[in-house]
Amino acid sequence: MKVMLAPMEGVVDHLMREMLTEVGGFDLCVTEFIRVVDQKLPPKIFYRLCPELQNDGKTKAGVPVRVQLLGQHPQWLAENAQTAVDLGSPGVDLNFGCPAKTVNKSKGGAVLLKETQALYDIVSNVRQAVSDELPVTAKIRLGFEDKSLAIDNAIAIEQAGATQLVVHARTKTEGYRPPAYWDWIARIREHISIPVIANGEIWSAEDAQRCQQQSACTDLMIGRGALALPNLARCIKQHEAPMAWPELAGLLIKYSGYEIYGDKGRYYPNRIKQWCGYLKRQYPQAELLFNDIRRLNKAEDIVKVLRRQSSQEYVA
Ligand SMILES: Cc1cc2nc3c(=O)[nH]c(=O)nc-3n(C[C@H](O)[C@H](O)[C@H](O)COP(=O)(O)O)c2cc1C
Repeated sequence: MKVMLAPMEGVVDHLMREMLTEVGGFDLCVTEFIRVVDQKLPPKIFYRLCPELQNDGKTKAGVPVRVQLLGQHPQWLAENAQTAVDLGSPGVDLNFGCPAKTVNKSKGGAVLLKETQALYDIVSNVRQAVSDELPVTAKIRLGFEDKSLAIDNAIAIEQAGATQLVVHARTKTEGYRPPAYWDWIARIREHISIPVIANGEIWSAEDAQRCQQQSACTDLMIGRGALALPNLARCIKQHEAPMAWPELAGLLIKYSGYEIYGDKGRYYPNRIKQWCGYLKRQYPQAELLFNDIRRLNKAEDIVKVLRRQSSQEYVA
């Protein structure tokens, strides 16, 4: 079984990928999307979103990181896919699931799910631009407003030459509201033969098992669940117990180190609060921590609270 870390724009950046892949259990990461409009982007954009390109396309823990592109123009996507692999990305992933209004207005992301031919054109152009040994993969939702094109879209993506398909088992309109319709992934699987990876609403090892049963997929992609429980991939694969709070608190401090001494010091306060938002689901302590740091805007002040709390009552 393979477990992939989901791309999450504004959340799963290279620091988060570094930390989560160090915790372990992940076989592959996908970057936040790189927006392609009408030009060949310079390498610096790729390096910014995917610094791992300077490390042979892998995180420090050795997990491959695939660049994700989002856009509507087959040719510009193909040219930028070529740049991505020339710079060392182990393949290219295409985003056909993003629900953001700004992205969909300019016909990128989930809105393309209404146009099966457009999906075909994009995937086949990108496939031709990327050498055969490297994967060209796609990530879809079940549809835009309804699921009527789910199977046609998957078939078109396969026929256009995609290597693999990740299915987030909801429409754009269904947003991120539970449930995820895993049984729809099984229906898609009946019609295509490329590997299909199931995604959506996996928060625990039990969810993963149910998802595998209902989707008939072995391989999974997890996003918010991995932020709520950083060792979720290991819980799923190796039946490890959920990470206890003291260990998690240590991770928060380590993350503060990455962030402050990395290139994102000024984003740290918001990032850590955002992460607490996800952690609250699994750890009541994260709620207390969030309340204590809510009004703090300086990284140093937040780290002080973290140190105090992780060494005192929060770890008792
Ligand atoms: C904040 C946020 C950002 C996301 N950014 C991306 C993205 O850049 N590319 C993409 O394909 N999916 C993106 N997604 C969707 C996730 O990859 C995933 O499909 C979705 O969260 C469902 O999986 P989960 O229930 O395991 O989180 C994003 C989701 C969230 C919540």
